[in-house]
Amino acid sequence: MKKECVLVAGGAGYIGSHTTVELIEAGFDVVIVDNLSNSEMRAVEGVRKITGVDVPFEQVDCCDIDAFRKVFEKYDFDSVIHFAASKAVGESVHEPMMYYRNNLTSFMNVIDLMREFGRHNVVFSSSCTVYGEPDKQPVTEQTPRKPATSPYGNTKQMSEDILRDSIAAYDGLNGIALRYFNPIGAHPTALIGELPRGVPQNLVPYITQTAAGIRECLSVFGDDYPTPDGSCIRDYIDVTDLAKAHVVAIRRMVEHKNKERYEVFNVGTGRGVSVLELVKGFERVNGLKLNYKIAPRREGDIIAIWADPTLANEKLGWHAERSLDETLASVWKWQQTL
Ligand code: UFG
Repeated sequence: MKKECVLVAGGAGYIGSHTTVELIEAGFDVVIVDNLSNSEMRAVEGVRKITGVDVPFEQVDCCDIDAFRKVFEKYDFDSVIHFAASKAVGESVHEPMMYYRNNLTSFMNVIDLMREFGRHNVVFSSSCTVYGEPDKQPVTEQTPRKPATSPYGNTKQMSEDILRDSIAAYDGLNGIALRYFNPIGAHPTALIGELPRGVPQNLVPYITQTAAGIRECLSVFGDDYPTPDGSCIRDYIDVTDLAKAHVVAIRRMVEHKNKERYEVFNVGTGRGVSVLELVKGFERVNGLKLNYKIAPRREGDIIAIWADPTLANEKLGWHAERSLDETLASVWKWQQTL
């Protein structure tokens, strides 16, 4: 029987590379498209090593519709997972046009080309950023979206709307938006993981680089928030668990099990963890002492957010499986390979 093929746009990136591994291990063929603007061939090579499959790779910018069209002409896939987007919240505030142009053009090109070539299923990488600062925890998919607090967040909201409206208008198109909480961790083989460029903006790569002596000291942004220990709370989801959510989302559409043609799911653990708890967990699990200090609050930070993942549990049959301790061990193992 012919295998289902999935185009993974942004497949050399952090979540894209882990998802490619899980798709292949679940029996799918994969084609990776990536412009390598914020990723490296090392990730593609890692994927090939883990899976033993010479995954096809096309260095193409999804914003370049003519180059992207050639990928649709060349490969016979019915499903697309769209990761290809810029993701730095702070940068998006200073370079809004770059974010709107990249993130929206590449996604609109995906939808246009899927229509042109009669391809059916798309998974979109959304984010819990669409909820803003929620009034109630945990957040469900019914929690109202608040106005986005950054151009990056706005591109996630707008892309969700573009997908919803396109599906309503065009027969044959199915879509699932996955709202990720905070992805962390590395593959158990330590052959792929997060590869931040320059000074990391996110907590976990900053922690591992500090432990490795690349950064002198971690700043914990704020210990005077109205939370039990005063630091911000997030829902840290292991990247392999997150990757598996994409596999079940694709399978749901391929097997026509999606009741609605457009669906949205939270992908989180359901557990809120504070910055200080995460730092202490990292120290304990890896037997390390981390150099950190309390610093002023970071502008724009949400105080607390964690997921209610019931919908994904029940409808997708997906659960976060890896413990936070395992995940925190994996990031240190990965850092030591860099
Ligand atoms: N933090 C520190 N020190 C650091 C870095 C982060 O204390 O050096 C804290 C932050 O203040 C925050 C927590 O660690 O409380 C997590 O911060 P991250 O930057 O790792 O993640 P965010 O929750 O800010 O951002 C993530 C994703 C975005 C997404 C956003 C939605 O990276 O893509 O969630 O809120 F938009």
